[in-house]
Formats: sequence, C-alpha cells, structure tokens
Amino acid sequence: MIAIGSDHGGYELKEVIKSYLDSEKIPYKDLGTYSVESVDYSDIGVLVAKAVTSGECHLGIIICGTGIGISIAANKVPGIRAALCTDSYMARMAKEHNNANVLALGGRVLGAGLALEIVKTFIDTPFSQENRHQNRIDKIKTIEEQYRG
Ligand code: RB5
Repeated sequence: MIAIGSDHGGYELKEVIKSYLDSEKIPYKDLGTYSVESVDYSDIGVLVAKAVTSGECHLGIIICGTGIGISIAANKVPGIRAALCTDSYMARMAKEHNNANVLALGGRVLGAGLALEIVKTFIDTPFSQENRHQNRIDKIKTIEEQYRG
C-alpha cells in the first residue's frame, strides 16, 4: 500500500499520479488534500510519514509546490527517509543507495510525464542491500536517536 498526499500546490499532480496507480492496479491511500484550497504542507507531510512508519503503508509519495517544504516536514518523523527527486536517476539512486521510503515531488516543477517516470522508477527499484549503503543508513538512524527530544 502506498500513502499519497499533497498540499494545494501538489494537488493536481497527486490526481495524475492516482490515475497512474489506478491504471497499474497499485493500491494507495489518499491522505489529502482533496481540493486546491490552501492547506499547510507540513500537516500532510506528517500524515503520510506516519502512515509509513506505522507499517500501514510500505512507501509514501508527497507533493507540494516545489517538494521542498513537504519533504523537510516528513523527514522530521523518525524512520522517514524522504527523497526529493527531479529526475528518474535521482529516484533510482534514492532507492538503491538511500532506501528512501518516501518520494517527494514538486507539482509546480515537474510535468506529468516526467513525474510519472520518476514515480514508476521509485516504485520499481529495490534497495541494493550492499553493506556500505546499509551502514550509512544505520548512521542516519544513530543521528535520529542522538537528537530525539
Ligand atoms: C505553497 O504555496 C508552497 O509554498 C508549497 O506548496 C511548497 O512549495 C513549499 O515548499
């Protein structure tokens, strides 16, 4: 199950991505927003992040105008590795090297075609499982533990 969410700046792209997921029969949970009315990206970023860290969803997709604010918010939730990607190479590396569990996109940055290519790459690429990458991810977890309030 994929958790998907956006603010108003990412709403239109969220709907395009949902159509793609429907066409591929990939299950998802839409955590909002549900119109172009202004909302705070931080609220939606945390909703999607929690859906992933709870185990309810194995991946998340978050979208705001640039993808920046919503990725910053999601990355505050321990266990979240949200990657803001602007091309499919970044999406592939985000999974292979960083084992990212949330993809962040900019609805005002990307065209629909490129965004869908990024989404497909992110979903389809596995983590490389190589020790050096796992070690680096483990170090991120240690940083989270050191700074946990
Ligand atoms: C909303 O206008 C915009 O600031 C938001 O979508 C996002 O781009 C923030 O990072």
